[in-house]
Amino acid sequence: MSDCILETEGLTKEFRGFVAVSDVALRVRRGSIHGLIGPNGAGKTTCFNLLTKFLQPTRGTIRYDGRDITSMKPAEVARLGLVRSFQISAVFPHLTVLENVRVALQRERGGSYDFWRSETLLRRYDARARELLEDVGLSAYAGALAGSLPYGRKRALEIATTLALEPVMMLLDEPTAGMTHEDVDRIVTLVRRVAQGRTVLMVEHNLKVVEGLCDRITVLTRGKVLAEGDYATVSRNPEVVAAYLGSDAPAHA
Ligand SMILES: Nc1ncnc2c1ncn2[C@@H]1O[C@H](COP(=O)(O)OP(=O)(O)OP(=O)(O)O)[C@@H](O)[C@H]1O
Ligand SMILES: [Mg+2]
Repeated sequence: MSDCILETEGLTKEFRGFVAVSDVALRVRRGSIHGLIGPNGAGKTTCFNLLTKFLQPTRGTIRYDGRDITSMKPAEVARLGLVRSFQISAVFPHLTVLENVRVALQRERGGSYDFWRSETLLRRYDARARELLEDVGLSAYAGALAGSLPYGRKRALEIATTLALEPVMMLLDEPTAGMTHEDVDRIVTLVRRVAQGRTVLMVEHNLKVVEGLCDRITVLTRGKVLAEGDYATVSRNPEVVAAYLGSDAPAHA
């Protein structure tokens, strides 16, 4: 088993001549929390879309868990355990918190929404759904309508529905975006918890969060890898500092 769970080689995405992701070689170590940072428009979300196969690369290869996944479809890579939060999961506002997780579990097992399934059958998933709610600290909200949850709790619910898919590697795109301090702390604890026994790749603008969570960091600017290393190393890199100062500085830098 390779030390790297995810490896890209020459990963490139062009949009009508504009190079959004350029020749990226990304190596994510198995079991690590890896941060992908960089100024707005650096190509981070495009990278995520390439890795989860929502976009087809113009050039380059992606290897996940020893397999070439470059030509796979999103559902195929999700089945292999490479799952993006908010990718397949969605929060249904008119269902309760528990029902949301139950639907996600049922989709994982059955492959479709199956809304027509009887309440009795759905109850089979209750035990596991309650476990997942416990994992993300939402037990007290099980019976609440998902639409009524405060923003930070909604993100926690999205993580629970993602966990229902039993990811081996989770991709989180700005999990703390738009959150209050209190919610940020809660999500940091949650990410640390869900990272146990998994690999996490996360895009995050809040550098305090990155510093506290990430074992390794890749810095992108204008589609290219500018630097890679642990937080202490990349944050001291003059080119990284310049890239951040020369653009919209990250929200909490
Ligand atoms: N579908 C598309 N068509 C054309 N250009 C695109 C498309 N998607 C992204 N881009 C461009 O590619 C560049 C990278 O965008 P991307 O969303 O990946 O950046 P990002 O690093 O996620 O930025 P942010 O921090 O603001 O989320 C931007 O200049 C963007 O305008
Ligand atoms: Mg983005």
